[in-house]
Order: sequence, then structure tokens, then C-alpha cells
Amino acid sequence: MKRYVAGNWKMNHGPAETERFFREVATRASEETPFREGAPVLILFPPALSLAAARDAMRELPSFALGVQSVHAEKSGAYTGEISAEMASEAGARYALVGHSERRHLFGETDDDTRRKISAVQRAGLTPIFCVGERIEERKGGRLEEVLLRQIDAVLADETVAERIGSGSQFLVAYEPVWAIGTGETATPADATEAHRIIRGRLVDWVGEKGARGIPILYGGSVTPENASDLLAAPEVAGVLVGGASLRPDSFLSIARAAR
Ligand code: PGA
Repeated sequence: MKRYVAGNWKMNHGPAETERFFREVATRASEETPFREGAPVLILFPPALSLAAARDAMRELPSFALGVQSVHAEKSGAYTGEISAEMASEAGARYALVGHSERRHLFGETDDDTRRKISAVQRAGLTPIFCVGERIEERKGGRLEEVLLRQIDAVLADETVAERIGSGSQFLVAYEPVWAIGTGETATPADATEAHRIIRGRLVDWVGEKGARGIPILYGGSVTPENASDLLAAPEVAGVLVGGASLRPDSFLSIARAAR
């Protein structure tokens, strides 16, 4: 299965900084192994206002794909400040994050919101990266499995979503323990494998062995150039979703190198 290295810039890097990032990537491109054959898929999620700058820069960098950090579930309408999956697609995005813990916990997005957004992302022909993960008190309370299953069930119980996956629509999951995001605390490779197995098992329940086999599960939460190799070597880990360490070309590319 292909490997994925995704970078979520969150609210960092406006258009000018985005251009600078890719200029530096381009100068390193020729000497960098991530750009050669067998390379991982590199996906960057800039803020929506930087999508155009990133799209233009990526024309010269075919190993990169573009994603959007968040979309509204509707196609258009009176939703001040929001953007739709269709608009993101028109702006060049091919992937969309849904259910990121910051969306869930800072902006109050519910499981039902994630379900509607996943469906909207598929409707627009984008590939969702569906984020799930437990908070520290849930982990300590022995509720890891319960939380992951609840988050997955909320989305996969939507027949349209499950049918699209069953008929080959690309779908990715990212396991991101909330306590590991932006904290410098990383899950161990064994923690990641355990959670990924729970996720994989539930995906099989919903879309069958064959459907689930096609779903890469990424790990996210304080991934750095130092710990990326160990995490990527863990069974069931098909890639990483990187926040802080994706902001600098050198650290992002060094994680990409670890995914070869
Ligand atoms: P982090 O963020 O790598 O800075 O912990 C990960 C994420 O939010 O996807």
C-alpha cells in the first residue's frame, strides 16, 4: 500500500509564506529522495486563503497534493465565513480533513457534523481524511475503544458514505490521540498499532474485508523527524499526519524521507 505523509498547517502560513515554503522545497527537490519512485504521497493542508498559492507552486512538484483543512457540509448558501467542498475542489484541493480534534474540541463539531462533512467531501469528489482519537481522560478511563468506535460508527452508519467506500471511493482515516496533538507527547508505536487495529476492525464491520483493506490509516500527534521512522515502521501505520513539524520544509521533507 502507498504511504502517506500529510502536513496540516493549521492557522499558519499565509500566501507569501506558502510561496516561500515551496520555493525552498523546489530547490531541495532534485536532491531529495522523496521525489523519486516509490515515494510517499505528500499532502499539504494550508489555510484556505493559501490554497491558490500552494496549487500554483505544486504544478512544478508532482509528488505533492493539496488538501483543505475544513469544509461546510452544504454546497453553498448563507453560511458566513464558511467554504464548501465544491469550492475547495475548484481551488485545486483533492483531500479534505474532517473531524480534526481542534474542530471537534475548539469549535464544537459533533459526530453528526463529521458525518455530514464526510458525505459532502465525497459528494465533491475529494478524498476525506477522517480524524478520530481519544482525550487523555478517556484513555485513562479505559475508554479508548469505546470512543474510537463511537466516532467511526457515527460516520460509517451513513449508508451513502459506506456505499461510496464500497464502490471504490478513496477514504483515509487518521488516528490522532488528542493528548498527543501539539504537546510533544507521542503515542508509542505499540499504542498506534493497538488503536489502528481497533479502527481497522470496525471498518471491516462496516465495509467488509475488501473495502477496509483499501483504507490507509495514518497516525498523527507530535510526529517529528526523530520519531517518524519508528511510527512508520509500526504494523498498520500507513502514514503520518503532521502538524508543527510540517511547517518547515526541512523537517517535513525529512519525515517524507522516513516514509520511503
Ligand atoms: P502536531 O499536530 O503534529 O503538531 O501534534 C498534529 C495534528 O494536529 O494533525
